Amino acid sequence: MNGPDRDDRSERDDRGETDGGHDHELRVTKIRDGTVIDHVPGGLALTVLGVLGIDGSAGEVVSVGMNVPSDRLDRKDVLKIENRELTRDELDVLSLIAPAATINIVREYNVAGKHRVERPEQVSGVLSCPNPDCITAGNEPVVPTFDVLEEGVRCVYCGTILGAEGADLSEHADIG
Ligand code: CTP
Ligand code: ZN
Repeated sequence: MNGPDRDDRSERDDRGETDGGHDHELRVTKIRDGTVIDHVPGGLALTVLGVLGIDGSAGEVVSVGMNVPSDRLDRKDVLKIENRELTRDELDVLSLIAPAATINIVREYNVAGKHRVERPEQVSGVLSCPNPDCITAGNEPVVPTFDVLEEGVRCVYCGTILGAEGADLSEHADIG
């Protein structure tokens, strides 16, 4: 378990996560190893889990904080996925749903790496086009490719737009 030093640190870190100094509350416990996805727009945590294909059935250890007060965002969600790092494809789709997300790689309780997600100009092979008449829906050897817009993505073949709100994207995410 955490020693006293670690508990101090937890409290201090958590102060940064909350607004108005509610530092006595540690909402979601620290993890030992894994990935913390921080600064996800409030209410989108389950969408993010859906996109990552995490539903608990594989025994994944996941903690979720939803609509936690935040300085940077009005309300944010935080996901802590133990013993797992994210692939490039997963990060790309995550960037479409949560452009302000911070990825923290945690090793032995320490944040070993921290970076923002990057929005690519295009994504290939991670989303499928919902238009049944799209060339990507047939048997052609075409990799579904979308231009990344400010709000959502657009199929380069047929122009179909998937909204950024998350529901759309998570329904059509096709990773790994
Ligand atoms: N975290 C965790 N387990 C750890 C270490 C950190 O769950 N062993 C979480 C923290 O609770 C926080 C995130 O990972 O949600 C980032 O940790 P840290 O960089 O220490 O916090 P901040 O400095 O507040 O992060 P930022 O500056 O990105 O807001
Ligand atoms: Zn299309």
